[in-house]
Order: sequence, then structure tokens, then C-alpha cells
Amino acid sequence: MTETVIKVENLKKWFDVKMGFFKTLTSKQKLFVHAVDGIDFEITKGKILGLAGESGSGKTTTGRVIMRLLEPTSGKIFFKGKDITHLDADSMRPLRRQMQIVFQDPYESLNPRMTVSDIISEPMKLQGITDEKEVEERVNIILEDAKLIPPGEFIFRYPHELSGGQRQRVATARAFVLNPEFVVADEPVSMLDASIRAEILQLMLSLVKKYKTSFLYITHDLALARHVCDDIAIMYLGEIVEQGTIDQVIFESLHPYTRALMKAVPDPDPSSKRIEVVIKGEIPSPVNPPPGCRFHTRCPSYIGDVCKKVKPKLIDVGKGHLVACHLYSGKSKKK
Ligand SMILES: Nc1ncnc2c1ncn2[C@@H]1O[C@H](COP(=O)(O)OP(=O)(O)O)[C@@H](O)[C@H]1O
Ligand code: SF4
Ligand SMILES: [Mg+2]
Repeated sequence: MTETVIKVENLKKWFDVKMGFFKTLTSKQKLFVHAVDGIDFEITKGKILGLAGESGSGKTTTGRVIMRLLEPTSGKIFFKGKDITHLDADSMRPLRRQMQIVFQDPYESLNPRMTVSDIISEPMKLQGITDEKEVEERVNIILEDAKLIPPGEFIFRYPHELSGGQRQRVATARAFVLNPEFVVADEPVSMLDASIRAEILQLMLSLVKKYKTSFLYITHDLALARHVCDDIAIMYLGEIVEQGTIDQVIFESLHPYTRALMKAVPDPDPSSKRIEVVIKGEIPSPVNPPPGCRFHTRCPSYIGDVCKKVKPKLIDVGKGHLVACHLYSGKSKKK
């Protein structure tokens, strides 16, 4: 059986809404940002799950909560079967070796006062690997993997002496240097020039393959996601609205939101019969998400009061293709 590396169950992260002093005194009820609002998924060994959706849908928060950089509000996170939801910092430390993150902004995520060598060797030192020779060897191997060649030319450089692409290669090398079981990459190429996005992503994929890493790829770019991921989950206002394989979700999209996102993706096949829909307006506030189906205020397929009043369940419409929309209620199939 394939090993499940990461599993989340009914995971929620709500942030307190910071109110002014006067408002805090007069307000009857505490307000929360429902950033992540009850999501479930799992990633098996060596598989890539994409997490996609517009800005503000809760993708970054999901990645950070799974990494335990943010405390979850409720729900559970399992790493290789172990419940890590509430582990304290000391108990998390040995797991940090196996769980890594690559952040969106290579200009902010690397310490400007550290050399490339220090940046990449830091996770090893934190894990108690102090043998200088071993550290040096590992740094050299991963720099070669990251195509920062020859390594000797890069190890003494500081981040400001690198291009954006090279910085993201360093961040990737740092994430993979300890051969982790699980890596989250949060829009890792979105701040880079379009011309180098594909090659940096390719680098990550080659490392994922080499080290059989389970990978959570966070993106708003479905054009890239469909070439990268095995499975994909589409998020809207803190919830997953559609989930399945790339073929199911991208090429046989069912949810009106996924279809709307797909419209923004240039289609190389002009004969494609994809239904073209238009997505209206801005994403609503997650402080007070719309009742019923959260997408009802913008949905081009709106079918009436049921959308406004009843929250659609995420159901399996066949072979693990999950969708949360009343258009498909009653089409639930056993896996
Ligand atoms: N630390 C925070 N405090 C309050 N609200 C936050 C915080 N971080 C994120 N949010 C809010 O949570 C929602 C989801 O944000 P985020 O996870 O960054 O979405 P995405 O990565 O999909 O753009 C947004 O409305 C955002 O403003
Ligand atoms: S439940 Fe209704 S509003 Fe929501 S996506 Fe489906 S048709 Fe649109
Ligand atoms: Mg984000």
C-alpha cells in the first residue's frame, strides 16, 4: 500500500480580527477571518498535490499551518501517521528535518547577512549535524543538484549577489539538503521573470523525483499546475470546492469556480469544448463568508435559493473526483 505522508482532517485556521479599542468595547461579538475553514486531503509518498485558487482563498495559510508555523484553530494534521497537530517546538524539531518549505519571495526569505553556504548548511546544524566535512559535502552535492555550478563559485556569495532565479535555487537547495519527506512550495516561481519560471519549477520537480518527496505545490496558476501536479485541490474562501486528478479537475472540471479559473488559462486546443464562463466581482470577505455555497454571490451557474441557503457537501462523483456544488447533489458515487 502507498504510504500517506501528509494528511489533514477538517483543518481550520481562523484569525482574530483586530479591532480598535472603542470597537472592541462596543462590539458584542468577536470577529474572525475564516482563512482555512475545514479542509481535508492527503498526499502519498512521492506525489505532488496542487493547491490552487485566487489570492485570498487560504492557500498560504494552509501551507503554514501544516508546517506548524501557525497554530491550527481546529482539525488534525498527521505526518506519516503521527498526529502533529499540537506538538510543541521541542517535539517538532526532529520532524523539521523531514518537512521543509520554500517561500514565495526569494528576496525576503533568505537572510541577507548569511552566505549561500551558511544558508544551506543551517538546517543541518539545527539538526545537530556538525561534522564539517559532511556538511561541506552535502552543500556541494545539493548545489550541483540545484545547478549552481561550480558550487565553489556560489558558496561565499550573499543573497544580494544573486539573481532572483539563483536565490530561489538556493532556497530550494536549502529545502532539499536534508532529503525531506515533505516539501511545501508556496507560489515558488510567481515572483520570478516568466522566462525562468519553467526551469526553476523543473528543478524542483527533478529534486522531488530524485528524493521521492511528497510535495504540496501552492499556486494560482493553473497553466503551470496542470504540468506539475498529480492531483489538485481548488480552494475558494477557505474551503476545497473541487479535488481529484489533473485529468478530472483540469480537463473535466465540474465546479463553476474551477471552470471560471480555467477560462483564464490560455487553451492550446482551439477545438476544446470547455464551457466558457465569466467570474464576476471580487472574492467576498472571509470575515463574513456568504451563507450556503460560498461561491453563490459570483456563480454564473447559480440555480436558486438552495445555493444561498444550503452548504453543498464535497461529494465523490466517481473515481475520487470530489465536487461541492448543488448541480451535482445526488450524483454521489462510492469510491
Ligand atoms: N496573520 C493574519 N491575520 C489576519 N488575517 C490573515 C492573516 N494571514 C492571512 N490572513 C487572511 O486570510 C485569508 C487567506 O489568506 P492567504 O492564506 O494568504 O490566502 P492565499 O495564499 O490563497 O492568497 C485572507 O483574507 C488574508 O487576508
Ligand atoms: S452550489 Fe450553486 S452557487 Fe454554488 S457553485 Fe454550485 S451552482 Fe454555483
Ligand atoms: Mg498566498
